[in-house]
Amino acid sequence: MRERVQQTVRFVVAREGDTRHAERTAAVLRELGADEELVLAGLLHDRGKPSRTRLWHRVAGVLLARLAPGLRKRLARGESTFALYLDHAHRGAAQAQIEGRSPRVVRLIARHHESPRDEDEHLLARADREALP
Ligand SMILES: [Fe+2]
Repeated sequence: MRERVQQTVRFVVAREGDTRHAERTAAVLRELGADEELVLAGLLHDRGKPSRTRLWHRVAGVLLARLAPGLRKRLARGESTFALYLDHAHRGAAQAQIEGRSPRVVRLIARHHESPRDEDEHLLARADREALP
């Protein structure tokens, strides 16, 4: 029972946090003059994150991206919550593709944790950063 309550609290907190971040990212993109397709990518970019994502997954993901990107890639394989979290950009892109989103939106979601290589990706990366609490 107690575990179930804790699970529910974690779920609600994580989902609301992610929803706020998505909406804030889209709002920042609008402020930066992005077109609606890019704004949509901002809204959808983190949707591949599993609902069971915990704070330590997020912290470890950031540290691995900074300190050991190769190890991060290897750990992103598999079906654990941490692996799914690490692979959320690709999972989100696959979901967007299934929904029939444009190739530009799918690519932006897929690459949002890679080094930005064009103006679209720079804008999304900037909005993603500025939208953090
Ligand atoms: Fe992300």
